[in-house]
Amino acid sequence: MSLPLFQTPKPIDAHFKSDGDIVLFNGNVQDLLTEIPDKAIQLVITSPPYNLGKDYEHRVDIEKYLEQQTEIIAELCRVLKDEGSLCWQVGNFVDDGEVFPLDILYYGIFKKFGLRLRNRIIWRFGHGLHASKRFSGRYETILWFTKSDKYLFNLDNVRVPSKYPGKRHFKGEKKGQLSGNPLGKNPSDVWEFVLQDWEQEIWDIPNVKANHPEKTDHPCQYPIELVERCVLALTNEGDWVLDPFAGVGSSLLAAIKNNRHAVGSDKEKEYIDLARERIFSYFNGTLGYRPLGTPVYQPTGKDSVSKVPDEWKEVYAQRTMLEEKGEYDK
Ligand SMILES: C[S@@+](CC[C@H](N)C(=O)[O-])C[C@H]1O[C@@H](n2cnc3c(N)ncnc32)[C@H](O)[C@@H]1O
Repeated sequence: MSLPLFQTPKPIDAHFKSDGDIVLFNGNVQDLLTEIPDKAIQLVITSPPYNLGKDYEHRVDIEKYLEQQTEIIAELCRVLKDEGSLCWQVGNFVDDGEVFPLDILYYGIFKKFGLRLRNRIIWRFGHGLHASKRFSGRYETILWFTKSDKYLFNLDNVRVPSKYPGKRHFKGEKKGQLSGNPLGKNPSDVWEFVLQDWEQEIWDIPNVKANHPEKTDHPCQYPIELVERCVLALTNEGDWVLDPFAGVGSSLLAAIKNNRHAVGSDKEKEYIDLARERIFSYFNGTLGYRPLGTPVYQPTGKDSVSKVPDEWKEVYAQRTMLEEKGEYDK
């Protein structure tokens, strides 16, 4: 999917300017934050480094990692508007096979700065490593905090089609009237995106395009679509969206695409260069991306990978027979 041609390109600044449009800062986020005035940002949204020893990070002990993050979070709270939001997308830190859910570790830090949790959103996906000593991990979370109780939440911008739009109240004063909302229903706190494309990439299904349209060389990108829902619900046009760990600019693209101002930093020049290229492609109409609301892929049963292989048919048949008799011991 490509965006329409003839978008008017906006200038990309290397340093923060309150009257600018887009800022791509190549350097440490703490240096960028010194340039941003108090209460300038409506939404901070990011996926921070998880301290897993990826190409772009040096693994340190978990206490040290959280200490470093606390210093950055203090500054992020300073630049956040009173009616603003902060969305922190994380998974697990794993040490010697032991799992440490990062959102649990981060929660106390945000509370210390007076933020209030509105949702712990589950981002579910159907792919990933197959674990052998624990259940395979298939979700990460987004902690959505607000700075105060008076916060912006544009639910109507992100409603999704309801399953039963024709449902009516069956008793009481409203009996017979439609019970839903014509704009659709609340998308809930369990989100499922990009299943189709990532699974195709992992399984390399023949005759299907193997790469997700957004994939770059960055090892830990998140989808534009995931950020877009937050941008639409938690900001208005013209607001500033900040991603302190911007990678290849997925959050910035979600903001720019929806007429918000976007500022992001990354310490790796390679990622900032890729982010700049992606922003250029957005303006010239060649950026590949999954539009918000694209239905999630359900296997048809016709793909060879979704059929029971011949070698396993006997075991499956025996199991089905025992299940029918109620004798299968799980
Ligand atoms: C999980 S990735 C974010 C990827 C991003 N969400 C995307 O879709 O491209 C974290 C990023 O933080 C950057 N980073 C880590 N520590 C940083 C720091 N102190 N200042 C700026 N960037 C940093 C890394 O280079 C990495 O690209």
